Amino acid sequence: MTIQEPTSANLAGQTQGNGEPHNAEVNVAITGAAGQIGYSLLWRLATGEVFGERRVNLRLIEVGEGVKAAQGVAMELLDSAFPLLGQITVTEDLHEGFRDAHAVFLVGAKPRQKGEERSDLLAANGGIFGPQGKAIGEVASPDVRVLVVGNPANTNAAIVAAHAEGIAPRQITAMTRLDHNRALGQVAEKLGGGVAELDRMIVWGNHSASQFPDVTELTLKGKPVADQLDQAWLTEEFIPRVAKRGAEIIEVRGRSSAASAASSAVDHMRDWFNGIEGEWVSVALPSDGSYGVPEGIVCSFPCRLVDGQWEIVQGLSINEFQRERIEKTVAELQEEFQTVKDQGLV
Ligand code: NAD
Ligand code: LMR
Repeated sequence: MTIQEPTSANLAGQTQGNGEPHNAEVNVAITGAAGQIGYSLLWRLATGEVFGERRVNLRLIEVGEGVKAAQGVAMELLDSAFPLLGQITVTEDLHEGFRDAHAVFLVGAKPRQKGEERSDLLAANGGIFGPQGKAIGEVASPDVRVLVVGNPANTNAAIVAAHAEGIAPRQITAMTRLDHNRALGQVAEKLGGGVAELDRMIVWGNHSASQFPDVTELTLKGKPVADQLDQAWLTEEFIPRVAKRGAEIIEVRGRSSAASAASSAVDHMRDWFNGIEGEWVSVALPSDGSYGVPEGIVCSFPCRLVDGQWEIVQGLSINEFQRERIEKTVAELQEEFQTVKDQGLV
């Protein structure tokens, strides 16, 4: 169902912040659009804060009862009268949803409940991502940027990458930006500063309890900060709190995080399309072997934007404490990858 024909002015000939010409419109596909993350995410995508002054065509991909709910969401988007919002399409058809897509948010998947680990979702969710990856390879724009949010996000992204023929591995990412933002929030609260003054936070590994939020390179107003944070706080409070924050939110809120997840997805995609070259953020992407992480495993690394693509920050010296933690989370990713391999999903 298409509920809105393009309405906004012809934006052809506009330039992006760096003076390069860009397309007048951007096609954005969101699976799970009727879910709780979708309900926060879509309103941010429609404002222009992610893609700049381009008309945004939204493809809301849902299944089952979600389709009708997504039609209601589309009606509300129309009612919000966003000047940059173009066509809104609600569909169950992957080819219709991903056709010529420049940005894809793969959110649609079951969230975990109290007491579950994200890897427990592999059985329910793993099967979703092969067909989606295949359809993306077949019909999306060759320069598509894909962000997997549905859990377990890293391994689901590895499944997408295995099926998205013709799409470079670097174009498929999984979200650890929420973990990165959580880590910034915890340190800012501890030191009494603002998150904007903090730079070079790193989250290594899996979006799971084994992840390693790492402050070794962190700076506050450009000055190293690791020695202002005592080791006991780091190992006993900070690392486990960030790594288990998802479960804490489920415990306290009763449902899995949604607005903060949507906000982090916005940060990830905004930086990818329009970010400041050279700034560090945490991105999970297929490893190229950096830091000893086996190739193909979708692992979170410190990344910076170079010519509009994420590049893993190279040359960091890794101490024993870091090495141990990175190896632990990478081992878990390898196990998850082996599981989906055994199931024939990759
Ligand atoms: P939700 O249950 O509110 O919504 C999920 C939506 O996806 C539903 O509307 C459902 O109909 C739809 N859906 C299911 N299968 C689909 C498919 N094959 N194609 C299209 N749509 C489909 O869940 P939510 O709270 O929005 O969370 C979605 C996912 O995101 C969960 O797996 C959750 O664990 C994950 N998540 C990840 C992060 C992260 O940091 N990576 C953060 C928060 C949540
Ligand atoms: C989160 O980190 O909040 C999400 O991955 C949801 C979850 O299951 O923890």
